Amino acid sequence: MYRIAPSILSANFARLGEEITNVIDSGADIIHFDVMDNHYVPNLTIGPLVCEAIRPLTDAMIDVHLMVEPVDRIVPDFAKAGANIISFHPEASRHIDRTIGLIKDQGCLAGLVFNPATPLHYLDHVLDKLDLILIMSVNPGFGGQAFIPEALNKLRAVRKRIDESGRSIMLEIDGGVKVDNIAEIARAGADTFVAGSAIYGAGKDSDPHRYDTVVSALREELSKV
Ligand code: DX5
Ligand code: ZN
Repeated sequence: MYRIAPSILSANFARLGEEITNVIDSGADIIHFDVMDNHYVPNLTIGPLVCEAIRPLTDAMIDVHLMVEPVDRIVPDFAKAGANIISFHPEASRHIDRTIGLIKDQGCLAGLVFNPATPLHYLDHVLDKLDLILIMSVNPGFGGQAFIPEALNKLRAVRKRIDESGRSIMLEIDGGVKVDNIAEIARAGADTFVAGSAIYGAGKDSDPHRYDTVVSALREELSKV
């Protein structure tokens, strides 16, 4: 089962609520919520207040991708704001196992995120505790960057580890996902696909903003895998 997770980083923030309901009505599955702090990454985006504001608009899971350092202090705020999944970068947490425990204690699913150059050994002792593994196919900080092909090798390696574990762990890819590469990415093992500019860029000239065409095109590609 494949899940499409539009990144609201590329949405029109002046009409954010509508951008969220429209993208879910257009057939997307999950709202990907990029949190950047101008410290761990060189950009600044949105926090728990915005998560809380959008929570009543949809039953879809809100997938919070924390690009912040430190991590732990902000986790309970996002849990209270209605996040379903909270993912973080291992380099940004001094105690990775503790952060995973904190996310789960707050009633959320826990994810670990790997930048293009971050080695997979961070999985060695925590794989059994994770609900999601997120492979970055761009360096985090901005939407609209080009997909880094090495991410495919990483996906294959993680897919193998997940299958060997026998656990159900979501394998998500984030960065540069488009209609023309999503099938190849799925073949490498991803089951959850973040797409920001590909989805929100495609609907921005329609009024109301609708995303049916691009979401169907992504699903059509996935149906060929
Ligand atoms: C990048 C973010 C991504 C970003 C993806 O740091 O984590 O979620 O919004 O955007 P696209 O799909 O445009 O590469
Ligand atoms: Zn993201």
